[in-house]
Amino acid sequence: MNQTPQHIAIIMDGNGRWAKKHLMPRTVGHVRGAANVRHIVKACNDTGIRYLTLFAFSSENWRRPADEVSALMGLFLQYLENEVAEMKAAGIRLRVIGDRSAFAPLLQSRIDQAELDTAYNTRLNLTIAANYGGQWDVLNAMRAWQLAHPHQTLQDMDAAALAVHLSTPELPDPELLIRTGGESRISNFLLWQTAYTELYFTDVHWPDFDAAALKSSLYWYAQRVRRFGRTDEQVHTTPEWQADETATALLDLAARLKIS
Ligand code: IPE
Ligand code: IPE
Ligand code: MG
Repeated sequence: MNQTPQHIAIIMDGNGRWAKKHLMPRTVGHVRGAANVRHIVKACNDTGIRYLTLFAFSSENWRRPADEVSALMGLFLQYLENEVAEMKAAGIRLRVIGDRSAFAPLLQSRIDQAELDTAYNTRLNLTIAANYGGQWDVLNAMRAWQLAHPHQTLQDMDAAALAVHLSTPELPDPELLIRTGGESRISNFLLWQTAYTELYFTDVHWPDFDAAALKSSLYWYAQRVRRFGRTDEQVHTTPEWQADETATALLDLAARLKIS
């Protein structure tokens, strides 16, 4: 208890309904949503959160009307153009996960540049999931594992070996997942990585999710008891498994960093 998550993942939902509530077009909701990304990134950086992963565009969001999709792409490009200089100064490292090959060449090159420009930053690790799907991530990882182990079969694959090939090898799994906008579902976000994540659903629409709302979610998280399959009594009375857990986490980290 009394813990702060090192990795928060957020499904930023509710832009459209926020706009509707204010009698405005959906795209205005997205503009306000993009502005809010800036505030929450800053709030997390100021709070000392190490990893923040934001779901910006799912692999299913291509099903939306073409003008909404192109407005979202435009906002993503604008976000990179406006924010990267400040991210550099604030020590924020940006990564983008998802299948970027579907994006316009200009957007792809801005993403590459932003990742390069911030690659040596060591404060907040900001990851934006764009054209991302959890099922895509797992399938991709399986294919990559097979390529890396041409003489082995799937029988030889274990969870840690697969995880190295997900799109998040340098990130610890999120301890806290926040979904704004009132829905209680994962919508194909980090399926593998959220196996033991605490799920926080709030009715607040993303453009209204401010630093105070973030604080409430952190307060809620601090009261969770994370059992990882054990009993309450074990968690509270027998600390020796915690040493095992730390050793396993270190081994996982070594595998992720490809140290042996
Ligand atoms: C989230 O807000 C933004 C994206 C999915 C890109 P929505 O656009 O889904 O907002 P609602 O769910 O329609 O309110
Ligand atoms: C999830 O929101 C994806 C993002 C926030 C980027 P959606 O609004 O697309 O989710 P569904 O379709 O309601 O499940
Ligand atoms: Mg939605």
